[in-house]
Amino acid sequence: MTPCEILKAGGIIILPTDTVPGVFALAFNDEAVKSIRTLKGSGGEKPLQVWVSDPKQASELGVSPKDLIILEKFLPGPYTVIVPTEMKTAAFSNGTVGIRCSTVNEINKIIDECGPLAATSLNESGGEFSLSLLRSPAFADIHVFGEISEKIGIPSTVIRKNGLGYDILRLGAGGLENMAADVIIGSDHAGFEMKEKVKEILQMKKKEFLDMGAFDTNSVDYPDIAQKVAVTVLETGSKGILICGTGIGMSIAANRFKGIRAALCHSPEYVELARRHNDANILVVGGRFLDPKELDKMIDTFFNTDFEGGRHGKRVESIEK
Ligand code: RB5
Repeated sequence: MTPCEILKAGGIIILPTDTVPGVFALAFNDEAVKSIRTLKGSGGEKPLQVWVSDPKQASELGVSPKDLIILEKFLPGPYTVIVPTEMKTAAFSNGTVGIRCSTVNEINKIIDECGPLAATSLNESGGEFSLSLLRSPAFADIHVFGEISEKIGIPSTVIRKNGLGYDILRLGAGGLENMAADVIIGSDHAGFEMKEKVKEILQMKKKEFLDMGAFDTNSVDYPDIAQKVAVTVLETGSKGILICGTGIGMSIAANRFKGIRAALCHSPEYVELARRHNDANILVVGGRFLDPKELDKMIDTFFNTDFEGGRHGKRVESIEK
């Protein structure tokens, strides 16, 4: 049987992709979608990825025209872009859908013939990919089309639209080059609440942002977030904002990256001097110590103050040597 014959009969197939091998069913066949969930042991309500062959096709999935523009910013490519949908099916349960559109011709041909596909990666829920999973009895009747290599591949980068910005829920195979924004932000758990305030201010100022996490107050290690923000700032030339409890850990971690000048600031005056004298490209604040009333002016100053150069230029250059 061909992949489409199996899918149209309500079956499931496994295909290699540009990232991790995937388990696919027709997105609008609720029974088939439910059996993917059972197979994965993930059950539940978690939205699956829905694959289209062209980002514009996402309009058939209840995605608004304004969100189609966002999809076209990243797709096709190894990204999963989570956008709102009003549709309620087994594949997109809680008001959102994660859209994928890859450059793999074989998959796009199947989608053109059968319609959008729901998919999940071939690994145990929350676990590692393993070919042994394929040999388990649950997979015995499932057709594999194409070569599934022992190498897992890197999972997709997962992006969720958030007002004027994007939450980067997972940094994966998608390159950082088209991740430029007005500002890349990040915090640990201790800075999370202040980061939410920063986002409100950025929305008001019509600034586009990328949020590298954390996305709740569960404990995370500040060096991990500092690293994601620093690398993205270096790759895109965007500015950055980092927040931890004191701001100290984030400054230390971010400043390990050559080309990063992260400045821990306590007032707009600090920010002005950090820009004029140090050409700071990351503003760091202490979420447990800074008065949030200071934030608005500090952010304005960070965006609108130019580096003076001259004698300061010589000094900054010698840091980078
Ligand atoms: C977390 O408790 C805290 O240590 C961290 O947010 C930061 O202040 C480190 O420098």
